[in-house]
Formats: sequence, C-alpha cells, structure tokens
Amino acid sequence: MIFRQFFHHESSTYSYLIADNQTKEAALIDPVKDDTDKYLQILKDLSLKLIYALDTHTHADHITALGPLRDATGCKTVIGEGAAAGCASQYVKDEEVIKVGSLDIKALKTPGHTIESYCYLMSDRIFTGDTLLIRGCGRTDFQNGDSEDLYKSLQRLMTLDKTITVYPAHDYKGWTSSSIGEEANNNPRLQFKTMEEFVDFMNNLNLPNPKMMDIAIPANLQCGNN
Ligand code: FE2
Repeated sequence: MIFRQFFHHESSTYSYLIADNQTKEAALIDPVKDDTDKYLQILKDLSLKLIYALDTHTHADHITALGPLRDATGCKTVIGEGAAAGCASQYVKDEEVIKVGSLDIKALKTPGHTIESYCYLMSDRIFTGDTLLIRGCGRTDFQNGDSEDLYKSLQRLMTLDKTITVYPAHDYKGWTSSSIGEEANNNPRLQFKTMEEFVDFMNNLNLPNPKMMDIAIPANLQCGNN
C-alpha cells in the first residue's frame, strides 16, 4: 500500500493519500482545496488514478478539495449519510465498505463532533476526522454537534483493536499519529468515569469559533466548488 500524510498549515489539517500498489487506484481523505495542485502532482508522480475523495465530515476550518478533485480527475466524492452538502457523488452509511483496488475502507458512523461525522477504518489504521484527536477530541458546540453522541462514538472506537494506528484530521501540537491503545490510556477526554462528566466538560469549553467558519461551511456545502 502507498500511504502519505499531508499537512495544511493554516488550518493544521492532516489529509491522507492511500493507494493500491498493484492497481494504482488511489483515495484522498480530507483533502484541502488550497493543496489541490499538490495532490494532483503526487498522483502524477506516482502514476496513480484517483478514484475517491472522501471527507470525514463537513469541515468548518478549511475548504474541502472534493469538488476541485472531482473536476480535475473524475473521481467520486464521498461523505457520510446525513451531511447537508448535496454535492457528493456518494453518501456512505455505517459499515459500508469502499474499495480502492484491494484495499477496503470501512465507514464507521461516529456522530458527535458533527451530526454526520464518520471515521474510515482500514485493516491496520483508522482516519478519525475530528471525532478522536491525539490526546483530544473534536468540539461539539456547532454543526449539530452533540456531546452525548461523541461520548458514545469514542466508546465505539475504543472497542477496536488497540494496535490500530490513529490518523486524525487535525493536530495543533505536531503529533502525527497515535494508536487506539495509546489514546485509551492517555487521552484526557477518555478518562471521564461517566458520560455526564464528559458532557459537562465538553459543554463548558467556551471555545471561539474557527476563523474560517463563515467562509468554509457554506463553501463545503458546495464541495468546495464555490
Ligand atoms: Fe471539524
């Protein structure tokens, strides 16, 4: 398998390229519009054919490259069922599998950060979007976020094999990856004894809105083609 991690500085977003070495089919997860040319360049350099561009959720802090990538490559654009954006070519359901050559990407419905947040699970790794961050988790105070839902989604992720590598959609401290086991033991948001304690903590974070929010959300409802 070919695997690359990209970092978008302005929004501290991680995006990921996965590809089947044999068939040369590829997928991009949470790509950022600003970096579209960079993705197209690496696809060309590695002789890959992009067949899917997937978002884990409707992002509030950057504009997605789903639309621009579809225009440039003809790839399918994928988001989770329940997303407000009407522009995707496929809306995945819980446990639905997307095939990229011999690689399987299983969608896991993990609402909480937003109502249509999904994680994408492969055999040895999971792309957790903003549901599970390294030593943190996504906020729940806009886009129909719900702290109880997030608690349950995080509990679901903690039932996965402890060795699975965690690749989040953001990191603000320079961490690049973790594992389910590492987060189970060390993530402060996973140490609350009850759901009520977690919900109380999340509902009192009082965070400022993301800088790009008023631009990014309307743009992302058009898959970045605005
Ligand atoms: Fe987010």
